Amino acid sequence: MADPRRIARQRLESLQRAGVKSLKKGKPVAKAASAKVAAAEKPSPATTARQANSPAPTAAPAYVPPAAPTSPALKTKAEREAALDVIRRQVAACPRCPELCATRKQTVFGVGNSKARLCFLGEAPGADEDAQGEPFVGRAGQLLTKIIEACTLKREDVYILNVLKCRPPNNRPPTPEESANCREYLEGQLDIIRPEFICCLGATAAKQLLGLDIPISKLRGTFQTYRGMRVMCTYHPAYLLRNPDAKRDVWEDMKKLLREMGIELDKKG
Ligand code: URA
Repeated sequence: MADPRRIARQRLESLQRAGVKSLKKGKPVAKAASAKVAAAEKPSPATTARQANSPAPTAAPAYVPPAAPTSPALKTKAEREAALDVIRRQVAACPRCPELCATRKQTVFGVGNSKARLCFLGEAPGADEDAQGEPFVGRAGQLLTKIIEACTLKREDVYILNVLKCRPPNNRPPTPEESANCREYLEGQLDIIRPEFICCLGATAAKQLLGLDIPISKLRGTFQTYRGMRVMCTYHPAYLLRNPDAKRDVWEDMKKLLREMGIELDKKG
């Protein structure tokens, strides 16, 4: 259950970051904050146009995360897609992080195979993802696609998602509150897809999923466990764009992951 005091504090902090210096005297703080939040949550005309073809977000039923790993896995693709769609609509209407709600063009849910054996987990959408509504479509995304293909897989074979579903302004790292707010959605997605393997891209994904505060340079290349799923952490593709030499390390990590998955590369790999 979300703690109302935590949410109120987060909203006030977000408003502060968004430049709100004071709240009107005499107005109860929570009320004043929620008025600002409501204004911040008002969709832009572009958002309204974009959402015209989507189901009304307010109509989304509340999502109750399944109690993985004991709950039975959803059997059919239709069941999984429907369950993901419930969370997708909840995410599209999510008001939890006022600063992100006020600045996002749209939410970025996740893409790929709802029965993927392997999920790639990134940090948060950037400008390209915010514009297109799909994770990893910018320069870092193109590099991720090359990595996936080098693994003899296609983007459609795997599932790609982020810790945060909204773009943080200026691509700043997610705050702990924002990550906590989005956690339920991430867990819900993983509970539905139930991948056998997760590849965490970068320190933020690794830290948020595993709760480990270990530098990515130490964590990479090792297998961890999250709810029975095998987790490989490696460098984020955006880091590789700045440090091409680290591609060698990522390829070593991918080969380890593929071996564990029973996927054979040709002899040259
Ligand atoms: N970086 C991420 O972590 N995720 C994206 O979707 C794009 C860039």
